This record gives sequence, C-alpha cells and structure tokens, in this order.
Amino acid sequence: MKLLLLLALTSVLSGAAFGLDNGLMRTPPMGWLAWERFRCDIDCDNDPMNCISERLFTDMADWLVKDGWRDLGYVYVNIDDCWSSMERDKQGRLQADPKRFPSGIHKLARYMHDRGLKLGIYGDMGTLTCGGYPGTPLDKIELDAQTFADWEVDMLKYDGCYSNSSEQEKGYPLMSKALNATGRPIGYSCSWPAYQGGLPPKVNYTQLGEICNLWRNYGDIQDSWDSVLAIADWFFANQDTLAPAAGPGRWNDPDMLVVGDFGLSTDQSRSQMALWAIMAAPLFMSNDLRFISNDARAILQNKVVIAINQDPMGVQGRRIVKEKNGIEVFLRPLSNKASALVFFSRRNDMPYRYQTSLKKLNYTAGSYKLFEVYTNRATLLKDSTDFVVSVNPTGVVMFYVSAPADTNLRHFHSDGKLQGPSSYEGEDNSLPGVFL
Ligand code: GLA
Repeated sequence: MKLLLLLALTSVLSGAAFGLDNGLMRTPPMGWLAWERFRCDIDCDNDPMNCISERLFTDMADWLVKDGWRDLGYVYVNIDDCWSSMERDKQGRLQADPKRFPSGIHKLARYMHDRGLKLGIYGDMGTLTCGGYPGTPLDKIELDAQTFADWEVDMLKYDGCYSNSSEQEKGYPLMSKALNATGRPIGYSCSWPAYQGGLPPKVNYTQLGEICNLWRNYGDIQDSWDSVLAIADWFFANQDTLAPAAGPGRWNDPDMLVVGDFGLSTDQSRSQMALWAIMAAPLFMSNDLRFISNDARAILQNKVVIAINQDPMGVQGRRIVKEKNGIEVFLRPLSNKASALVFFSRRNDMPYRYQTSLKKLNYTAGSYKLFEVYTNRATLLKDSTDFVVSVNPTGVVMFYVSAPADTNLRHFHSDGKLQGPSSYEGEDNSLPGVFL
C-alpha cells in the first residue's frame, strides 16, 4: 500500500503543473498512424494499395468505422512523413503532393470528421523532415500552424530532424503557442526529447507537460520483439523521471503499437499491449487494418486493457519487481482504488510458474477481485493468499484488480464493461495460467 500511496501522491503533486491548456487528450490518444507500417512508400504507380496517399487514409478510416475500432476509442487517423509536395505553394504554404492527395488535406479532414474520426498530420522543426520533405523551421511556424488549422487538422506530430538544440528550444514552445493562437484545438505531439537523449535524459519534463500533449522520448519502434523490448526496458529503467511527467493532457510516448504486423508472436503482442497500457501510453496502431488477423484484432480491441490504458486518473504505472529469474511485475494505480498488475517473463525456455501474493506486492490487507484480461476469468483472492501465475516466454498475465471495498459492487464482465452490483455465483474461478 505504501507503494500505491506513494504513486498516487506523486501523481497528485505532479498534477499541480497543468498540461497544455487546450483541453485535449485527457486520456492517452488512440488511433492509427501510418509510419511504422507504411513508411515513405510513395510509389503509387506500382504499389497503389500501400503508398502514402489519400486512399490509404480513407481506407483505414473506413475500417476503423466498420470493424468497431472507432467505437472503442481509436479515433485519430494520422499522416506521417512524405505527404507533402517538395515545394510550397505560391503563398509559401505547405501543400500535399497533388498526385497522391488529389483532393487535398482539407477534404481528407472532412472525410474523417464526417465519420466521427480525427485527422493528424506531420511536420518537422528543421529545414527538412526526416524523409527529406519541406520542414517547418522557426520562420515558418506560424504560417504552417495556421495552414493546419485552416485544413481543420486535429493533431500535429512535430519531428526534429535537421534542427539543432537551440532551434528546438525555441521551436517546440513556439509551435505550441502558434497552434493555440489558431483557436482550433490541435493535439500536439513533440518529438523534442527523442532528439535530446542522454542518460538520465536531459529533458525538462515540466516544460514539455506545459507545451505538448505527448512527446516521443526515445528511438523509433520497428516491427520486432527486440525493438519493443528495448523500448519498454528504456521506459521502465527511467520510470522515476518519466512517470511523474505523465498525467491527463500530457503523456510519454513510447511510439506505435506494432501488433498486427509481422514481427510479434501472439504472446509478444499481448505483452506490448499490456505494457503500453501500464505506461499510459498513446495507442497509435501502425498496421494494415484491411488484412489484420483475428488474433491481433482481439488483442488491440480488448476492452479491459483499453479501459486500463484510458483510466481517467492518468497515472503512469511502474515496474515494481525485477526478479533475477527473468520475471518482472508491473503495477498501475487506477481510479476507484483499483489497479492493473502485469506479470511479464523475459525467459525463453517454457512457461514459468511464478509464486507470489498481493501482500508481497505491497497491497493492503483485504480480499480482492482479480480479473485476467486476456482470458476473461475472475477470481477472489485474499492479500495473504499465495498464488501462482504461469507466464509464457516473452508473454504476460495481466489483471485488473478491484479495490477490496469494490469487490462486491463493481467488476468487469466478460464483455469488458464495468458492471454494477452482481454476485460471483456461477463464475469460473479457475484461471488458466493461474493456480490458487
Ligand atoms: C522519425 C520519427 C518517426 C517517423 C520518421 C519519418 O524517424 O521518429 O516516427 O516520423 O521520422 O521520417
């Protein structure tokens, strides 16, 4: 409990510094982002389905609606690099590549809005974007912010290639001001800290929280388990710096979800989703929603994991146990005195039977309801009762843990909704992977 109290207190104290005052992203933003999966494929002649074009974004929008993603909260459809023409227009404004975006960005934004979605766009604070397209250096910031607002764009990712640290110091706050000055609420994703580096990172997180809604802290994610693990490891190694910086309206961003692509097994996909939920990370999928497997879809659409990620208290969770045997335990305090627990295995031999108790994990005395999010099984457990979780290699077992006082009042049902009073009668108390 001491730990829970400490975590809650840290969040209340750090909550005293208000996030970017645009009222946006009170919970981590969710949606789809083109980069990891579709990169800078501009070859629409030979690869029309996959090139960066308005068709790719309208396709994804259609699937977000058709397949239930939007209704679960995945509402942003975000363009990344390589969308623009190599030249600005006669008035000096950025313009979309006319061949690949013949209807223009404003129409694309309307397409999203008509469907209850939002459009995100990408810019860069240097002379060029990372992919070599026109950037938005200091003298272009106000003009480009206004152009994005005129197009009715809802979010900007502002990258940092081809800029130096003194330009960044001026540019990131200036873009924040310029976006606010347009009067249009535009979510602001800053890549600034990813360009500052250092261990511990030499980043002013208080300032970031004041000017950005989210920020990329670290390197780019790739479609591999190595990459996912390296990113998670970096975030948890630096949790004492990072966690206090997060809260409603201001989030650390460990980069996109690659669940549904080629590099992760089912267990690893569950692990990425679980750890991103613990971290209160933005959930931007970068995958092909037209061809996604049922397995990946079920993981990304898991309502309880999403509810944990979207918890309104907005406290970023932490690693609380790091065993020499390769088992790690993560905890995120949630509203209604609930919490999320993740048991993760870095092992590569076989499922590991890890024995612990809630008491050993610093929970206060009482009996708790544990709901295993990937199997939809629930059980009641006293803090002092030892239990065993069987964690697959590179996999997780993840629980939503209700507060003791709440166990008879509210709990998750198998459809993932938080339900009112109900009894546990008839529930299956045997959790696969959990031996009481
Ligand atoms: C950087 C960013 C990526 C992506 C590319 C685009 O590497 O970190 O997320 O936006 O640029 O070129």
